[in-house]
Amino acid sequence: MLVHIKDIISKAQKEGYAVAAFNTFNLETTLAIVKGAMNKNSPVIIQVSETTIQYAGLKPITHIVKTIAKNEAVKIPVALHLDHGKSFRSVAECISAGFSSIHIDASDLPYDENVALTKQATHYAHKHKCWAQGELGNILGQKDVDAGLTEKDTERYMTDPEQAEKFIKQTEINTLAPSVGAMHGLFPGKEKIDQERLKKIHEKTKVPLVLHGASGVSNEDIKEAIKNVVVVINIDTSLRQEFSRSLRETLMSNVHEIDPRKILTPPMAAVQKAVEEKVEIFGSTNRS
Ligand code: G3H
Ligand code: ZN
Repeated sequence: MLVHIKDIISKAQKEGYAVAAFNTFNLETTLAIVKGAMNKNSPVIIQVSETTIQYAGLKPITHIVKTIAKNEAVKIPVALHLDHGKSFRSVAECISAGFSSIHIDASDLPYDENVALTKQATHYAHKHKCWAQGELGNILGQKDVDAGLTEKDTERYMTDPEQAEKFIKQTEINTLAPSVGAMHGLFPGKEKIDQERLKKIHEKTKVPLVLHGASGVSNEDIKEAIKNVVVVINIDTSLRQEFSRSLRETLMSNVHEIDPRKILTPPMAAVQKAVEEKVEIFGSTNRS
């Protein structure tokens, strides 16, 4: 069933587990996410990025998620969220489309500009009964690794707990995406969560924390982060990797198959399996 994100996050916060926010980009991934979550009897957040909106169209992808949530996910709560919205326009369009939560990511801007845009988007979201996520600090990714950033460098991109406290007061966001050592993409061994920083951010802010870039974070670090009050965990790369790996294998071992439904069935199963594994680690099994 389609629910407001606040229902999912409030329950997770009260009961002490984390909910996965999986990125979708098409019908197949959305179905696989929902089937995986249903098998685990787990709540789930399905999120779309601006790149997915460009690829699939806002209305088509919204309808895919909503209709699957309503008609397939009959026994589990599903919430729809915008991931890394970079502009007010993007946020406003998703709110009109019926999202219950948006992420305004102005973290690349200087602090005051980040506050101004986040505040504007948050006030608009609240006026429309929608939750808003803000981002402070820089969550690094492939281009930063390519630029040769070392672990020492990454520290200065992390969120400052004192500044986070001020940011929450100024913007009134509902959830915060801090930078604490995870990176967008898979960089095994390079992604180490600064648990002390996470604890301090929680103490200072008290808002539900969202761990971005979790695909390459070790299970131990994830579990510790949940103890340190991460309530939502974003997973994108792991699902895309599983989808693509399985698709490649399927095509290579069935070179004459021309029925896309047959070709796309194994990738869906691979995504579903990855979803089930993550949900189990995050502790949201049987919490629907
Ligand atoms: O916003 C989405 C995420 O932070 C996903 O990160 O690609 O490392 O799983 P990931
Ligand atoms: Zn992210």
